[in-house]
Amino acid sequence: MSKSITFTVQAGGSLQGCVRVPGDKSMSHRSIMLGSLADGITHVTGFLNAEDAISTLEAFRAMGVKIEGPVNGEVTIYGVGKQGLQAPRQPLYLGNSGTSMRLLSGLLAGQAFDSVLTGDESLSGRPMKRVTEPLASMGAEIKTTDKGTAPLQIHGKAGQLKGIDYTMPMASAQVKSCLLLAGMYASGQTSVTEPAPTRDHTERMLAGFGYPVSREGSKATISSHGHLTATNIDVPSDISSAAFFLVGASIAPHSDVTLQHVGINPTRTGVIDILRLMGANIEVLNPREVGGEPVADLRVRSSQLQGIEIPEELVPLAIDEFPVLFVAAACATGTTVLTGAEELRVKECDRIQVMADGLQILGINAQPTTDGMIIQGGQIGGGEVHSHGDHRIAMSFSIAGLRASAPITIHNCANVNTSFPEFRALATQLGLQLRCE
Ligand code: S3P
Repeated sequence: MSKSITFTVQAGGSLQGCVRVPGDKSMSHRSIMLGSLADGITHVTGFLNAEDAISTLEAFRAMGVKIEGPVNGEVTIYGVGKQGLQAPRQPLYLGNSGTSMRLLSGLLAGQAFDSVLTGDESLSGRPMKRVTEPLASMGAEIKTTDKGTAPLQIHGKAGQLKGIDYTMPMASAQVKSCLLLAGMYASGQTSVTEPAPTRDHTERMLAGFGYPVSREGSKATISSHGHLTATNIDVPSDISSAAFFLVGASIAPHSDVTLQHVGINPTRTGVIDILRLMGANIEVLNPREVGGEPVADLRVRSSQLQGIEIPEELVPLAIDEFPVLFVAAACATGTTVLTGAEELRVKECDRIQVMADGLQILGINAQPTTDGMIIQGGQIGGGEVHSHGDHRIAMSFSIAGLRASAPITIHNCANVNTSFPEFRALATQLGLQLRCE
């Protein structure tokens, strides 16, 4: 993939209009995984046609699943059943996608074949022990590098995995989902307890396919006694993509934006709660339920944001939105303090360090801490910043241009294609003056 894409955003402007941002990334991954393991044909609409979700789709094609699309967000999956996957002929290359790698590691641990999972430079630096250690205690055999990173070499242990009762040391939906998927192939029960609520799309979608998962407080439990029946899935817009415009329209004067058909699963709406605590004007319109997931249109208008201490319980519910929330904090009056967010250091890049460095270059007093950041609101200036190949950093600094005093240039933006290839087109349609070279 070319890393030479540079964004330049002109200073100022406002955002106006109505757009539908692309489909939810987490649900798109899961629709392919569960649709492939189901009996029958699953139709998906609203599928995210972006590199990360395509990595998952290609991995299942490589394991013998016939999948048509995506064409205009539509995907048809000819499920092979729970025992129907075939050995891939080559290592499965998962690009930048942590979700693909961590969820697949659980699913592949209990297959009747061996597999190897690889990824790009960023994914190859991310911690995998968080999945391989609990999987090992289920009887899985997975080799990592000495640093606990990919490539993952999985020796399939069909019929030999045993259920565990595991309490996660960190609030991670990827780890939870990995273990639940492994639990579909393990004897006895597999239970995962989360220290704080994390996104529950795996549990909801399993239920949608008719596979029993029980929930008692913070503990989810699954067993191998179930099978998946094909279904239709309507993937709503990704609130993590909508977040760029929630912040953009909040910080840019005279803005009024409506984001249509956004997934508002309560395990994902921390960004709305945090922005509202800062004084944002966000209306949740026409709330409805689509395929077991809550959906609504979100109308957001400009407001003067205030700095806050971000409540720690909201951190896992907004975990992917902090890069752009840091931009909101830079535009707020007063100080914003984030704590309890050390997980940001092991995302597609170290999002605490990279955002603090970029905001400082733009003249904002942003002090990184081990588990968060302290940001004094101020005037954003122009300058050159680096995304470090992280899609959400690139888009966040683009949004910062709305309140900058001079143009901002953002280097290394090709990775926007991992989650939101239409970002530039939609942002431009709403009024952002963004050039791409
Ligand atoms: C995801 C879970 C989160 C999130 C990631 C997608 C998922 O990661 O940051 O973008 O789809 O399960 P963690 O599980 O590491 O918190």
